[in-house]
Amino acid sequence: MSYFCERYPIIEKSSLSADIYSYTLLCPNVAAEAQTGQFVQIKAEGFTLRRPISICEIDKQKGTIRLVFEVRGKGTDKISRLNVGELMDIIAPLGHGFTVPDTLDGKAIIVGGGIGTPPMLDIAKKYKDKCTAVLGFRSFDRIILDKDYTKAGAMTIICTDDGSYGIKGTIASPLDEELKAGGVSMIYACGPTPMLKAVVLTAERYGVKCEVSLEQRMGCGVGACVVCACTVRRGGSKEQVLRVCKDGPVFDGSEVVF
Ligand SMILES: Cc1cc2nc3c(=O)[nH]c(=O)nc-3n(C[C@H](O)[C@H](O)[C@H](O)COP(=O)(O)OP(=O)(O)OC[C@H]3O[C@@H](n4cnc5c(N)ncnc54)[C@H](O)[C@@H]3O)c2cc1C
Ligand code: FES
Repeated sequence: MSYFCERYPIIEKSSLSADIYSYTLLCPNVAAEAQTGQFVQIKAEGFTLRRPISICEIDKQKGTIRLVFEVRGKGTDKISRLNVGELMDIIAPLGHGFTVPDTLDGKAIIVGGGIGTPPMLDIAKKYKDKCTAVLGFRSFDRIILDKDYTKAGAMTIICTDDGSYGIKGTIASPLDEELKAGGVSMIYACGPTPMLKAVVLTAERYGVKCEVSLEQRMGCGVGACVVCACTVRRGGSKEQVLRVCKDGPVFDGSEVVF
């Protein structure tokens, strides 16, 4: 899989909530190669290490990708100061994405936690009403992309920790309800590690295949430095250390040693 290291024009920028931004880049070569669940490494001016951000949407016809990120520290703060018309310096597309078959035997469930919500939007666009998105946020003001998921055709269930919108609590009980209803053949998840662990355990209980996108601190982003190590158990064999940037970020949930 090839990737590009170039500067691309920003053609759209918007603010989704306090400190969360959406950017669209015109990058036809990246869009042509990119797969759902892959990520980009963004250069923040003045910083040596790039910042990994998932690809939220890919439009191969328009030659664009969309990125949605939260300002967490100095690097993402610097990047968020870029505006339409300026260039964003990225290495992309990187990593191993989600498995998105052309046809599913049953329904898909997408589970997104907070800023883990973006990378699965294209899955919802593909499966439309054959998919349910269960999205969890801290509170009403942190909700993002709910309308995008609904517009994609997914049945969208929102949970907030404080009950300020939707179901009060975590994604655990609506996920359980959806699985109990049956007919689910695939779960896709991205979000905080405790949430991913809970999703994998639930998927195992119902015997449903599950893929999770892991987050790990990164150095190079292309498989050379092993800063992003994670432990997996593949095919029942003993534990092995893989790289989130190159072997992931998406893994079969049953393989991950949390
Ligand atoms: C594969 C992948 C996809 C991601 N996708 C998204 C996304 O779509 N939207 C989004 O808002 N965030 C995403 N993140 C998290 C994002 O990379 C961090 O929030 C960001 O790197 C923080 O940088 P900073 O300079 O603002 O923070 P600082 O804390 O100042 O960063 C210092 C260093 O730590 C690294 N770092 C800090 N937190 C993280 C983290 N959680 N993950 C990886 N490296 C980190 C930074 O890259 C930098 O090298 C993703 C992370 C990974 C690994
Ligand atoms: S970040 Fe360097 S190997 Fe993954």
